[in-house]
Amino acid sequence: MKTIAIVATGGTIAGTGKQGKTVAYRAGEMNVDEIIQSIPMIQDIANIKEYQLMNIDSNEMNPQRWIELSRIINEIVQDEHIDGVVVTHGTDTLDETAYFLTLTIHSAKPVVMTGAMRPATATSADGPYNLYQAVCLATHEEAHHQGVMGLFSNTIYSGRDIQKVNNYKIDAFDQKAFGCLGYMQDHEVYFFSKTFKTHTLNSLFSKSSYHDLPSVGIVYFYAGASCQLLYDMAKNHHGIILTGSGSGNYSEEWLSAINDLSSQGIIFVRCSRVAQGIVFDDDIFDPHHYCISGNTLTPQKARVLLMLALTQTTKREEIRKIFNEY
Ligand code: SIN
Repeated sequence: MKTIAIVATGGTIAGTGKQGKTVAYRAGEMNVDEIIQSIPMIQDIANIKEYQLMNIDSNEMNPQRWIELSRIINEIVQDEHIDGVVVTHGTDTLDETAYFLTLTIHSAKPVVMTGAMRPATATSADGPYNLYQAVCLATHEEAHHQGVMGLFSNTIYSGRDIQKVNNYKIDAFDQKAFGCLGYMQDHEVYFFSKTFKTHTLNSLFSKSSYHDLPSVGIVYFYAGASCQLLYDMAKNHHGIILTGSGSGNYSEEWLSAINDLSSQGIIFVRCSRVAQGIVFDDDIFDPHHYCISGNTLTPQKARVLLMLALTQTTKREEIRKIFNEY
């Protein structure tokens, strides 16, 4: 039987509240061994090693905690007796952690993230079944070399593209226009696609260790948004992710602030507030090509990549290449 490490970080999957109810609960209350005990069939699938790394609401996640989580997982996967890793995590910021791990885990072993929309004390909690399937996926041969994955509601997602798209329903995740990597039926795994973006073993960022990350902020454009927002953000950030309208667009006032701040060394990445589509280079909204296109990354994922890219280089053209590769 394979051995799977479960690294618990908290979230609703470890949440407790009024017996049976789904609202007014606190995330990150229950220890992972209690959750595992509530899923006896896991014992038929794998030997489990538990690591209660933290027990937080994922809104308390931050770059320091990403670094710690990545360091622990990189240590765990070095152990030849460990065949795969499952990370339990709150759903709110799981997309950001999933991308950070996709870029920084140096292993081909399966790493699967999961969580829940209903607390552990709810009637028909979704966490135990997600965790069961995540363990099954982590034991599967085909799950190697897939990069970090997310597992929710019978569906396998890539760590690069997984996105929370519903803040109320159990089936809360999606991969934007890219569907999913595959499905599960109970313990059976069915892969149908692969991510073509560089990850894990081949990622430049998985070959370094980190103590901290350069500061990158996100600024949201809306009709009438003042360019002062950009100047304020630039005061204590090395890079700024622009959450533009449409294809990553903004006003002429913003364009002149972006040109001004770019010439002072701030790195800008253009993303969009629209959920679907892609942001390409644009001669009208960025005539000097100061900005880097975020492609299909959401603003929060582009922030993760820019923080890591800035640990390697501050040269805009090199960062542009990184954004095209990852
Ligand atoms: C959290 O992200 O920790 C709370 C919400 C959730 O897990 O669904």
